[in-house]
Amino acid sequence: MTVLVTGGAGFIGANFIFYWLNAHPGDRMVCLDRLTYAGNLSTLRPVLERPEFRFVKADICDRETLDRLFEEEHPEAVVNFAAESHVDRSIEDPEVFLRTNVMGTAALLDACRKYGTPRFHQVSTDEVYGDLPLDRPELRFTETTNLHASSPYSASKASADLLTLAYCRTYGFPGTISRCSNNYGPCQFPEKLIPLMIANALQNKPLPVYGTGKNVRDWLYVEDHCRAIDLILRKGRIGEVYNIGGDCELENIALVRRICRELGKPESLITYVADRKGHDLRYAIDSGKLRHELGWRPETGFEEGIRNTIRWYLENRDWWVEIISGEYRDYYEKMYGNR
Ligand code: NAD
Ligand code: DAU
Repeated sequence: MTVLVTGGAGFIGANFIFYWLNAHPGDRMVCLDRLTYAGNLSTLRPVLERPEFRFVKADICDRETLDRLFEEEHPEAVVNFAAESHVDRSIEDPEVFLRTNVMGTAALLDACRKYGTPRFHQVSTDEVYGDLPLDRPELRFTETTNLHASSPYSASKASADLLTLAYCRTYGFPGTISRCSNNYGPCQFPEKLIPLMIANALQNKPLPVYGTGKNVRDWLYVEDHCRAIDLILRKGRIGEVYNIGGDCELENIALVRRICRELGKPESLITYVADRKGHDLRYAIDSGKLRHELGWRPETGFEEGIRNTIRWYLENRDWWVEIISGEYRDYYEKMYGNR
């Protein structure tokens, strides 16, 4: 079958392409990506020359290009990873988040309807549920938890979810949604917590922890996320939402200390900086539905996952050094310079 992956030059999309081509030999994959600051064609180098792979540089908001591509490829499944994904950037400049995450998803939904695409999957996030208090460890997000987004990023993702569900109900559209917790692993852009801390530690630069460092995130190794999406695409029920989580809650400060230990760097590099505006306190995902209905469970524990990740950044220094020496330098200065 032909699978169209949008946003495949980013972190999770690229890992999904590698995973899929390995798990489903014979399938054709088309990757559509606008190559924003977060998209990196060099990440896809291992598959670029493969005959079953095609890369198209385009914007998911560009309906004419989508028409042409759907006419040429007739994908049997579309998986939408394309998004503006960084909360801090959404606080600085929400507009592009609305454009890509909401209008872009709408354009894809319409293309799938127009060409009768048999399956569409929207890659969403646990952030659509808002946050949980730090003193109620028994609480977790389920698929029926109310949407209560905190940031422009999460509000845009929640909007895309609602639109997808509305298409399922109104048009009998063959869509599914997954809401996943924080991913980590190879090829993650160094603006996100784990790669930022690894890159800074390796350069003996300060490790900027927001606020008290007590905020909690639930971490999942990226390949486990990819396997979950595969299962949902093939066996999930149309019109349904599936939570995906790692059952691995960690305070940010504990995670940063762990990275220092793994790299043999002193904790004196840790620097507390001004908090993120509206900073979500805790995310915790109940993925019981996915586990019971589809038999999914995470296969990579945190010990193994964080070591693989650190090893990847050590072995692929050129990949992230090139990024942090480009326009990322201005971003870093703007976000962290006077923080
Ligand atoms: P990323 O920022 O690393 O990659 C996003 C990709 O989308 C980039 O390649 C970028 O070039 C592309 N893109 C952006 N705007 C586009 C547009 N208008 N048209 C075409 N391509 C465009 O993001 P990621 O971390 O890989 O996240 C992928 C998806 O998974 C997102 O939808 C995100 O909301 C969701 N998600 C991420 C996490 C996480 O922890 N990273 C967790 C849960 C869900
Ligand atoms: O939960 C899923 C979400 O996880 C995804 O939907 C988002 O696309 C993804 O970016 C991620 O969002 P977070 O805001 O949780 O990730 P981030 O890596 O930006 O931050 C993780 C935590 O670390 C958060 O509490 C803020 C904190 N942090 C982050 C950075 C970049 C710091 O303390 N210092 C930093 O420099």
